Amino acid sequence: MRKKLVVGNWKMHGSRAANAALLGALREAGPWSADVAVCVPFPYLAETALALTGQAVMLGAQDCSAHEQGAFTGEVSSAMLADLGCRYVLVGHSERRAFHHESDQLVADKAKAALAHGVTPIVCVGETLAEREAGQTEVVVKRQLAAVIHTLTHCIGEIVLAYEPVWAIGTGLTASPEQAQAVHAVLRTQLHAASQKSASMRILYGGSVKPDNAAQLFAQPDIDGGLIGGAALKAADFAAICRAA
Ligand code: G3P
Repeated sequence: MRKKLVVGNWKMHGSRAANAALLGALREAGPWSADVAVCVPFPYLAETALALTGQAVMLGAQDCSAHEQGAFTGEVSSAMLADLGCRYVLVGHSERRAFHHESDQLVADKAKAALAHGVTPIVCVGETLAEREAGQTEVVVKRQLAAVIHTLTHCIGEIVLAYEPVWAIGTGLTASPEQAQAVHAVLRTQLHAASQKSASMRILYGGSVKPDNAAQLFAQPDIDGGLIGGAALKAADFAAICRAA
């Protein structure tokens, strides 16, 4: 039995005042039976860590460097994230892949760096609309996951996977529960071939998850929670999604 996990990805949103209000409202709304985490922008990690003290909500970051340390201006290492109390880090979000040209191998190297410091990587995979329309969905997500499996080898069982169809992100278009489940099943099968832990690994769905569609998505056999963008910025919506899990 896998415990559901709901992760809020704040992306490049927030301010000290807005974050305090959001975290305060979440404190009032919780706790939930699902695991819950928030992935906040780097500058707010330390303050958020303090605000979450004594709460069940876990801290995460939105990216990390594949490098250990050194002359990499602007990069943040996974050791630093661990130092700040991060439990999770997103790697390979489609916005990083698209806008920062991150390759499958770089994403895999970031996942490896995170694990080396005890930070669980949430590895994001997903196809674009053009790829879906060309019938390439399976090929794309399997290729993206294969790079991570190849790089992490026996540690693959330690990751969280997130399926985020690019066409569903921030568009209001959600994959139907059946569409999402079909891809999750493909990913589970691929994990099964790579790890004895596949049955206990969590695969999250992300892409326009809202309070009114969360329960149906989370009811699918291979959907173990959600990676939430826009709705994670509204305490009432995020709390409702956490309840649905
Ligand atoms: O990482 C979360 C994400 O990309 C989904 O965003 O706004 O469609 O929930 P959104």
